[in-house]
Amino acid sequence: MRVVIYTGKGGVGKTSVAAATALGAADRGHTTLVISTDNAHSLGDSLGVPLGPDPTLVRPNLYGLEVDVLTELERNWGEVHRYLLALLASQGVAEITAEEVVILPGMELITALLLLDQVDHDGRFDTVVLDTAPTADTLRLLSFPNAVEWYFDHLFGLQRRIVRVARATVGHAMKTPLPSDQFFASLERLHARFQRVRTLLTDPRRTTVRLVVNPEKMVIAETQRAFTYLCLFGFAVELLVVNRVFPTAATSGYFTKVRAEQEANLASLTELFGEIPQLPVPRYPHEVVGIPALEQLGRDLFGSSDPVTVRPTSSPVRFVERGGHPCIELALPYTGPDQVELSQRGDTLFLTVGPYRRSLVLPYAFTGRKVESANLANGTFTIRFASRRSPQEVARAA
Ligand SMILES: Nc1ncnc2c1ncn2[C@@H]1O[C@H](COP(=O)(O)OP(=O)(O)OP(=O)(O)O)[C@@H](O)[C@H]1O
Ligand SMILES: [Mg+2]
Repeated sequence: MRVVIYTGKGGVGKTSVAAATALGAADRGHTTLVISTDNAHSLGDSLGVPLGPDPTLVRPNLYGLEVDVLTELERNWGEVHRYLLALLASQGVAEITAEEVVILPGMELITALLLLDQVDHDGRFDTVVLDTAPTADTLRLLSFPNAVEWYFDHLFGLQRRIVRVARATVGHAMKTPLPSDQFFASLERLHARFQRVRTLLTDPRRTTVRLVVNPEKMVIAETQRAFTYLCLFGFAVELLVVNRVFPTAATSGYFTKVRAEQEANLASLTELFGEIPQLPVPRYPHEVVGIPALEQLGRDLFGSSDPVTVRPTSSPVRFVERGGHPCIELALPYTGPDQVELSQRGDTLFLTVGPYRRSLVLPYAFTGRKVESANLANGTFTIRFASRRSPQEVARAA
């Protein structure tokens, strides 16, 4: 299954471009599902077709869906949800309903990811186009599978051990309900699903991110930051859609200055995003609503080419050998050395850039090796490991 993720600053045209891409993909014969993960859904309004939590036929080959947190929670959460309710009830929060659990932070992220895993698992669609919320929320969504890994390993792994001890000693005397084995089995199933969705999302042959921008300074600045964080989490950024470019013919009088500003900003895009292909689209004299307008947008964007072709990208993380030292090279564009923090605990690296933190479990060839040095140059962060395993590690392996 091919996944195309559109993201960008609020209002730049993500929903319109995602809908246009999906229409074009369906036209070419791809069985396509366009999903809105933005809580403030507008995909149905854009297509002019009411959408819900299940795939709705928009036209041949094209289905649309707006993620509904409550529906997904009921479908996926099962045992974990029931335990959460019991736990809250034991703390005096009686009569809590599923509707109220929805407000727990992060629920919308969990549900959107599980839905994507389900769609991949069902194998009904060969193309999925994601229309997402503005960048900050989408980055939280995309970094979530990485964070979840840490929780499962540290928190639930630990809790499971504690529960075993607790059950053996205090058991029913405790007021707080002890999670059942079923709860843990259910958690483990969820864990496996998050791992699968992470593999899907960070495979550049299957999933790519496309950034939608407008030729405006503030939009570009936010998009640059988004690009950096996407690289940090291992997403392949494939395309820059430059939306709302004023045609020269339309920019006399009042709009002359707007056009001049846009031109300067368009020139800076080429400098800033270098090798990432850019596709410009004009600012239309009308809103882009309804299928005919979206089809025009699709044609202006992709011409006669397949709108979901995977353009070659390299994964932003590479494991390489340099001068006998195993190294990790990570693309981190627009980042200064003072913005990156790196620490190592056993076989896990922790990388912090701005407000985001990623854990990176080292591949087998790197295990037992200590970071020797790290260096950020020309947008690449290189982490160099000791050429040999530590004596303790050699002894442990033996
Ligand atoms: N090239 C364009 N020319 C004219 N109007 C456009 C163009 N692209 C988008 N629009 C209009 O701009 C508005 C915002 O577009 P859209 O909803 O696609 O943005 P968005 O990035 O999804 O916004 P949000 O961040 O709120 O989800 C819509 O009314 C849409 O019709
Ligand atoms: Mg939108």
